[in-house]
Amino acid sequence: MVFTEKLREIQTPCYYYNIELLKKTLEKINTESGKYPAFHVHYAVKANANPVLLQIISSYGIGADCVSGNEIQRALECGFPVDKIVYAGVGKSDAEIEIALQNDIFCFNSESLPEIRVINEIAGRMHKKARIALRINPNVDAHTHHYITTGIEENKFGIYLYDLNHVIEETLQLPHTELIGLHFHIGSQITDMNVFRSLCLKVNEIQQQLQNRGIRLPHVNFGGGLGTEYNTPYGEPIADFENYFATFARFYEPLPHQHIHFELGRSVIAHCGDLIAKVLYVKEGRNKKFAILDAGMNDLLRPALYQAFHKIENISSDRPEEKYDVVGPICESSDCFGKDVSLNEVSRGDLIVIHTAGAYGETMSSRYNLRDLPQTYFSE
Ligand code: LLP
Repeated sequence: MVFTEKLREIQTPCYYYNIELLKKTLEKINTESGKYPAFHVHYAVKANANPVLLQIISSYGIGADCVSGNEIQRALECGFPVDKIVYAGVGKSDAEIEIALQNDIFCFNSESLPEIRVINEIAGRMHKKARIALRINPNVDAHTHHYITTGIEENKFGIYLYDLNHVIEETLQLPHTELIGLHFHIGSQITDMNVFRSLCLKVNEIQQQLQNRGIRLPHVNFGGGLGTEYNTPYGEPIADFENYFATFARFYEPLPHQHIHFELGRSVIAHCGDLIAKVLYVKEGRNKKFAILDAGMNDLLRPALYQAFHKIENISSDRPEEKYDVVGPICESSDCFGKDVSLNEVSRGDLIVIHTAGAYGETMSSRYNLRDLPQTYFSE
C-alpha cells in the first residue's frame, strides 16, 4: 500500500477496504462457479459483516451463509434474497430459529437431533415447514490450525457418521421439517486441494450408502474453507477459484439435477481489507525494539488467538529496515502482531499496515479494555 494524501486524513486504528479488489474477486467467483450450472455460492457473513461490503457482495447475486439470527437480519437488510440464505450453527436459540422461520430462509444446516426436534416443534407452532440439510462430520482432516479444523470426530461439529442413519430416519418422520440436503464444512484456511478431493470422495461414499437405502437428496453443501495466501499480499490477491471449483466438478459425483452449494468467507474478503494503525511509541529493550501501535488485539484478534501471520509494513518510512516486535497497547503478552518483523525504521506517528485482515478482522473485534471499535474506510 502506498502512502497517499487520503491516508493522512484517516483516524486510526481502522480497517481500510479495497472495493475494486472485492469487485474483481466477486467477478472471478461468478465466472469460475458459473462454469458449472449446478453450483451456488453463499458468502459466509461471519468473515466480514460490514454492511457496505455486504451490499456489494449481494449485488453479485451471491447467497448468504449465516450463523445467527442477527446475521440473517443483517443479510436481509443488505439485499441478500431470502431464498439464498442458509443458516448454520451448532447451538441455535429458539428466538433465532423463529427469526429464520418467520423469514422463510432457504435452509437450516442442522447439526444434531435435539436441535432438529426443536426446529420441528417451533415450525409446527408457527405453521411452517423447515427445510433442513444435515451437517455431517465426515471425519476428513482439513490439516489446518486445530482451532479451525471442524470435520474430524473429536470436534463438536456435525452429525457423526455412526449416528447418521438414526438421525435421517427420525428426521424423515417429523411432520414440520423437510430433509432437503447434506451439509459439510471441514475447516478453514485450507490451501491443499487434495483435502477437498478427499472430502468429495467421502461425500460420494456417504451418498452411495444413502442411495442404497432409497434416499436421494436434492442439495449438497460443501461449506467453505478455501485458504488465503497471507505471505504475499501484493502477489496474487485473488484466490484460485478456478482450481477450487474444478476440484469439486471433477471429484464429486452428483445425483442428476442435484444442486451443489459452497459457503466461502475468507477467500472472498481477506485480501480486500487491511488494518491501519499509527505508531504511538518506539521502545528500546536491551536487545530488541518494540513498535507500540494504537491498534491492539481487540482490533485484530487473529495473531493472538491463532498465532496467525499477517504481513506488516511501515508505509511512512523509506529508511533502512530494522527489526521490531510489533505490539498493541493492551496489557496482555499475546497482544502482539508479530515478533522480529523487518520494517523500515519506525518513528512515532508512522502508519503501519497489517495486511490481509479483511476476513475475521472487523467481525472479531471487541471493546476489550473499553477501547473504541476500529473505524472503517473504503477505497471508493
Ligand atoms: N461455513 C461454515 C459452516 C463455517 O463454519 C465457516 C467458517 C465457513 C462456512 C466459512 O469458512 P471460510 O471460507 O471463511 O474458511 N476466525 C477464524 C476462522 C473461523 C472459521 C469458522 N467457520 C480465523 O480467523 O481464521
